[in-house]
Amino acid sequence: MNKITIAIDGFSSTGKSTVAKQLAKHLGYVYVDTGAMYRAVTFYAMQNGLISAVDFNKEALIYQLPNIEITFKFNEALGFAEVYLNGVNIEKEIRNLEVSSYVSKVAAISEVRQKLVEQQKKMGQDKGVVMDGRDIGTVVFPDAKLKLFMTASAETRAKRRYQELIERGDKVDYKDVLQNVQERDYIDSNRKDSPLVKAKDAIEIDNSHMTLDEQFNKILQLAKMTI
Ligand code: C5P
Repeated sequence: MNKITIAIDGFSSTGKSTVAKQLAKHLGYVYVDTGAMYRAVTFYAMQNGLISAVDFNKEALIYQLPNIEITFKFNEALGFAEVYLNGVNIEKEIRNLEVSSYVSKVAAISEVRQKLVEQQKKMGQDKGVVMDGRDIGTVVFPDAKLKLFMTASAETRAKRRYQELIERGDKVDYKDVLQNVQERDYIDSNRKDSPLVKAKDAIEIDNSHMTLDEQFNKILQLAKMTI
């Protein structure tokens, strides 16, 4: 069967990765979580004292970019690829609210985007890939055969994110999670380089009132019609 590229973009916590993983598994495609790559660079900056609540040394981060190697390794038990920073599995460390609070600032740096977009293009060059992020249908794969743009109200997304963090055992306040979702939406949509916008040919899916099964079935149907 003909393999295609599926680009899934949208706002924070719209459930892009959940549906992208389901779809990749069903189709036998590779799933690439590009948000994890921006989170990995952010985690590197935190570990190396380049970013904190009061300070952000952008120049040093840009200078150190060649030292950052991001790789993915498929975890059979989990059924998806986990992200590694310089050979160390950081899948759990990058999902907390602290990383979320800095990541959009890091992702607004052109040099960071250039490095990661180049890697993403290579990862998807053989097609048969489901990639999710903010600029996949607009910048990384503007020729993707199927482009989806996921939305839901900020409150719906913050509730889902809050639930996820609580289930992981993180101690967080709902209002901080909502604030983070809104801040990231704002920075991601207003940055100069590759802002989050719906590609002209993307299909918008508002999943505020959809169950996971409804969402998956709708998207699978769209994929089958396209392949
Ligand atoms: O998808 P996730 O919420 O993990 O992404 C974290 C952040 O990484 C986003 O808020 C955004 O700032 C950045 N990002 C991006 N471009 C992508 C994927 C993520 O700028 N393709």
